[in-house]
Amino acid sequence: MNAPARSDEFAPFGDEFGPQLTGPFAPLADESVLTDLPLVKGQIPADLNGVYMRTGPNPRFTPKGRYHPFDGDGMVHAAEFRQGRLTVRNRWVRTEAWQREDAAGAAAHWGIRETIVGRDDKPLRDAANTDLVGHAGRALALWYMSGDAYEFDPVTLETLGKHAAIASTGGKISAHAKVDEITGELMYFDYGNVAPYMHYGVLDAEGRLKHHVPIDLPGPRLPHDMAVTEHYSVLHDLPLFHDHEAMKLGRHKIDFHPELPTRMGVIPRYGRGDEIRWFDFTPCFIYHVVNSWEEGDTIVMVGCRYMPAQKADGSIDAQRTARNVAELVMTARLWRWTMNLRTGEASEQCLDAERNVEFPTYNGALTGRRTRFGYLVDHHLTSTLQWTGVRKYDLDTGASLSAWSDDADHSWYSEPWFAAADNPQSEDHGYVIAFQFNDQTQRETLDIFDARDLSRGPVAQVAMPRHIPTGFHGCWIGAQRIAGWDVYS
Ligand SMILES: [Fe+2]
Repeated sequence: MNAPARSDEFAPFGDEFGPQLTGPFAPLADESVLTDLPLVKGQIPADLNGVYMRTGPNPRFTPKGRYHPFDGDGMVHAAEFRQGRLTVRNRWVRTEAWQREDAAGAAAHWGIRETIVGRDDKPLRDAANTDLVGHAGRALALWYMSGDAYEFDPVTLETLGKHAAIASTGGKISAHAKVDEITGELMYFDYGNVAPYMHYGVLDAEGRLKHHVPIDLPGPRLPHDMAVTEHYSVLHDLPLFHDHEAMKLGRHKIDFHPELPTRMGVIPRYGRGDEIRWFDFTPCFIYHVVNSWEEGDTIVMVGCRYMPAQKADGSIDAQRTARNVAELVMTARLWRWTMNLRTGEASEQCLDAERNVEFPTYNGALTGRRTRFGYLVDHHLTSTLQWTGVRKYDLDTGASLSAWSDDADHSWYSEPWFAAADNPQSEDHGYVIAFQFNDQTQRETLDIFDARDLSRGPVAQVAMPRHIPTGFHGCWIGAQRIAGWDVYS
């Protein structure tokens, strides 16, 4: 593979594309396999076995036109833990776009900041750069705007191709598919600009298509996440979506509609589209759900409510809200929504009014089941996608139980993920793992916390030889969920 030569690690394409391709965001030029990495402190826990991985945009070639982080080729960084040994790898997802550009030796796609909708001469890149999920022994790389699901080997990171069952529907998949680790099923949705505007699907534990139905929405929407419980899935219809007039002119512009409610649709796991029940809530955007579960007739969903910007008189500033979302400015509060399937009642409650927290994780073995603990990141006051620390919450009370930051001004943590210890004795028996870059010292580390008490600081910290670009989502795939784990050495 021929990587383009780059001279400046922190500005490989120069400064012309702005801050999102320089400094902590600067993309890497190559792929690597790293072993024997030096410990800064502690020891790699021997009861931590599996792979922590995180994806993000890492454009390989100088972008065409203006750049947005959603455009960059997806690159996965993975830390494989095996009996106290650590191997760190990074590898691009070989999407169709990546292969086309590999053959051309230059960028051949355009980004969402350009006027491209409907223009065949300016193809948009499905970068598979947004989210990762482990399923049926493998891993999937997903794109926020609904794209193909690219399967890859969670240990070697080798791309295996498009997921056949999802492709067989003729549809796509959004970021934030959910895996029920008890049944092994994967629930997902897609969305788009053509009626019925959404589909909902279920894969079985082997990755075969089990269920796929259209979901009628009032128009094209921009949902980002979904939730599942033991028997239901919760789909989102949010009052933030593409400006239809701008879309006709070829531009991606989003509007916030404070006159419309936020709607959650509860559908039985194998339900028909007309079985969905919608519940109305106060208008907001939602990036990320923590988890969801059933309490009797009530569906509980805990997540991060994107707080609409306000005018001086306290009313919603729709324009600024839409601009903030477009520019990835995160202003969110931990929130609980409830939906009673018997009475039709809906309620919502802020769990922590003080802190701006996002990118949640929890014990994935309990997806769709009641969880007490969530692990979120603190957001830097002004800097986009700068997670300055990790924080553990009690999801019942909204209490912040413990937190850690090495340097609240200069740390950039990747999305952490909870990794259960071998033979866990409690919901929080395990580790919280994240990469961390310090923009002052320019040091990169891999940090491993005891999930029972983050305030102790990392129980192990490993020095990385170079920075890992700021990115999007991570996941943890325990050894028992990785096909062929025992045959890798
Ligand atoms: Fe996301």
